[in-house]
Amino acid sequence: MKTLLIGSGGREHAMAWKLKQSPLLSELHIAPGNPGMASLGTCHNVKADDIAGLLALVEDEGIEFVIVGPEAPLVAGLSDWLEPMGIPCFGPSGVAAQLEGSKAYSKRIMEKYNIPTAAYGEFTDAASARAYVEKHGAPIVVKADGLAAGKGVTVAMTKQEALNAIDECFNGKFGEAGEKLVIEEYLDGEELSFFALLDGETALELGSAQDHKRVGEGDTGPNTGGMGTYSPAPVATPAFHAEVMENIVRPMAKAMVAEGAPYRGVLFVGLMATKQGAKVIEFNVRFGDPETQSLLPRIDGDLLPYLHATATGRLAGMKPVQLKPESALCVVYAANGYPDEPLKGTVIGNLDEPPLPGTVIFHAGTTKNKAGEWAANGGRVLGVTGLGATLEQAQANAYAAVSRIHWPEGFYRRDIGWRALKRDAA
Ligand code: AMP
Ligand code: GLY
Repeated sequence: MKTLLIGSGGREHAMAWKLKQSPLLSELHIAPGNPGMASLGTCHNVKADDIAGLLALVEDEGIEFVIVGPEAPLVAGLSDWLEPMGIPCFGPSGVAAQLEGSKAYSKRIMEKYNIPTAAYGEFTDAASARAYVEKHGAPIVVKADGLAAGKGVTVAMTKQEALNAIDECFNGKFGEAGEKLVIEEYLDGEELSFFALLDGETALELGSAQDHKRVGEGDTGPNTGGMGTYSPAPVATPAFHAEVMENIVRPMAKAMVAEGAPYRGVLFVGLMATKQGAKVIEFNVRFGDPETQSLLPRIDGDLLPYLHATATGRLAGMKPVQLKPESALCVVYAANGYPDEPLKGTVIGNLDEPPLPGTVIFHAGTTKNKAGEWAANGGRVLGVTGLGATLEQAQANAYAAVSRIHWPEGFYRRDIGWRALKRDAA
């Protein structure tokens, strides 16, 4: 199968690495990809949000299957353009992608179909938003409605913080994304990510992961796209999986069919495990980055048939996805200055050594400089994944691989996995 993978980050490197192992893959094309994954397929210089360019590429290369990494092309309707061309697309329609593209849309669907989530209100003017905060008090959560690169959310521990966040949004801090606000109940519990494949009617679970959003050790400092992950999340027991599938994932598949916007793709459920059970924090319409770098190495066997069956409505006949019993842990190696102003162009040594057993290095923001050396070209530059019989072993393997990389101008958190390991020790 001639396949086009869209995206350029560590997530897409992990997807390309997994797809490359499939005997069903005839050619892998990637748009735009990055130099670190160029050995796995043909990278084309077409950006992930250049819909016209992507459609032309599909025609020119005779692509038979499109797999979308990031949300932007989905929200822009790439899948809808491919449908009349007869090209299956792994990733939902533009309407269904509003589950990520608009927090208000996703909250309305959850409310209508009784999917457990935080109670909320939706606002387009500051006065009523402020009145809601006055009525409900803190802690409370203020969210810009649209895509704000993960920065549009304020978890306000005081009323004043919430009021400030409202003013910032309506004063244009997030542009159009902040013209509408969702304000919601604060959920107390442990946060985790859950992934399932939906082909419309049918849903198959994939697995769980936990991310580390803050830049600094001990979960301190500003939020990032994610500094490290592990899979599985210890809170995600088999009973928890069953609860999430029963109360959230299957009802969502049904809901989207009933809405006339059947969901085809991976549903990334951001969850809070609260005392009252699993509640949805948010939906994403794609795999997580860096969650994928710890989830995909655990998938046993060929992923491509599952992605294709997801896109073509044939999941009902498929066996459950098999996961390896091993744990996986991914450490993100970022450029100094990330997340504000990552330093570009610094040289990264020792990257091409054969990997240590049980480890794999995914490139997210690298380039080759004129001298042919690897150099930093982004904020989150590498994702280093270790597998192991236990999470502790996976962590040891990942950090052993990290310590072989020579990059004085880069940094990483030394405590990825701390929450899960503390739980094991308790
Ligand atoms: P979101 O962009 O919706 O995922 O929100 C970003 C982060 O804010 C989440 O990963 C949570 O850590 C936190 N968060 C969002 N909503 C809530 C909530 N209702 N209660 C507590 N924390 C939340
Ligand atoms: N790591 C969080 C995300 O992919 O949205």
